[in-house]
Amino acid sequence: MDVRAPKGTADMLPDTARAWEHLTRTAQELFARYGYEPVYTPLFEHTEVFARGIGEATDIVSKEMYTFADRAGRSLTLRPEGTASVVRAALEHTLVPQGSLAKLYYAGPMFRYERPQKGRMRQFWQIGLEALGAAEPGVDAEVIAALWRFFETVGIPADNMRLLLNSMGDDVCRPGYRATVAAYIGEHAEALCAECNRRLDTNPLRAFDCKNPACAQVMAGAPLLRDELCEPCATHYAEVKARLDALGIPYVEEPKLVRGLDYYTRTVFEVQADAGLGSQNAIGGGGRYDGLMEMFGGKPTPGLGFALGFERTLLAMEAAGATVPSPPRADVYVARVDESVAAVVFDVASALRDAGIAAELDHQARSLKAQFKQADRLGARAVVVVGPDEAAAGEATLRDMSTKEERRVALATVVDALRALLG
Ligand code: HAM
Repeated sequence: MDVRAPKGTADMLPDTARAWEHLTRTAQELFARYGYEPVYTPLFEHTEVFARGIGEATDIVSKEMYTFADRAGRSLTLRPEGTASVVRAALEHTLVPQGSLAKLYYAGPMFRYERPQKGRMRQFWQIGLEALGAAEPGVDAEVIAALWRFFETVGIPADNMRLLLNSMGDDVCRPGYRATVAAYIGEHAEALCAECNRRLDTNPLRAFDCKNPACAQVMAGAPLLRDELCEPCATHYAEVKARLDALGIPYVEEPKLVRGLDYYTRTVFEVQADAGLGSQNAIGGGGRYDGLMEMFGGKPTPGLGFALGFERTLLAMEAAGATVPSPPRADVYVARVDESVAAVVFDVASALRDAGIAAELDHQARSLKAQFKQADRLGARAVVVVGPDEAAAGEATLRDMSTKEERRVALATVVDALRALLG
């Protein structure tokens, strides 16, 4: 048996798992301040949720989905992202009845069959947030602020990040613009790669994102949607920028930012960080998707959100020297002099744990010296030593690891004595 995890996946060992828990806890606290509530959707959905939601012509749907037939022959897909699932759930449970607002966040693994490299995995972890029901530009600024503040809160300095901002227009102005870009691509067909030519009919705007230098050169001269936004889209975009200015959140307008999912309308954004990351430098991104709920068969419902990638955020945090709080693994170590007192030691450790104190004990018949070493390693601030004599007297020795002071206490008062010692 090959004991290595499948290509593009990684075990989250304790240090990384602790970082994940730190980030999800930060999200919980921060996003609650913005009025967001948690939601958990299934890890797999009917394939059409993603195929229609994200768009058949996108890279995600056309080549990156983990799609399988279940035993009844239904086509299911491991979620490549969370937005389509959240919108599907909002529709199923009527989370956004007319005139109301649903503010939701989520965290968990996503799956895309991509070529693995630094910061790009096949199973990766996202924290995401969605606001459904509000069309006003204020909510765009709120969502972007929540993302920016999240990164700042976990220790990525603003100087290490770049917030790119653009507007993708809407049903009124984008179709005409799409045709203009398609025509432009048609005129430069020979200079563009096969992929950009292939997408001419289905997804011409993706050419802005092509990594091929020749394509980038051609697209540098392409007409920009920014110059062709309809009046309502232009006003919306201007108001989002004004709100961000007022919040003091720095952004860079990037008229070529198109993002890889088809559901976007109006505001799109991406946060990039260079330090610690290679070419996969987008640590988070999102945008508006005012047509998605309707596409799923619901009433027209505006929405927007973002998702941030855990692996890339952690790389950016490490590059910035940000640390993950790591509490001592045990406040108290309960040591035994020999095996005859194993049951007493077990009872003391259990009583401490029941009282809310992190306590550890030996389960491997280690020497007393080895137990003290272990106590040090775990960061214990006190050690309770129980030997046959102490046990017979109904007592234990309590050692304060910082002052090295020792005293005898009655077993019945060990919990109180340690509460006092630990403060
Ligand atoms: P996305 O840009 O595809 O957007 O992904 C969001 C973030 O997930 C990226 O910025 C990146 O940090 C991380 N990410 C994506 N793919 C990978 C991968 N293969 N390996 C590691 N990290 C990755 C979405 O998923 C949208 N659902 C965001 C959104 C929410 N838009 C509106 N609401």
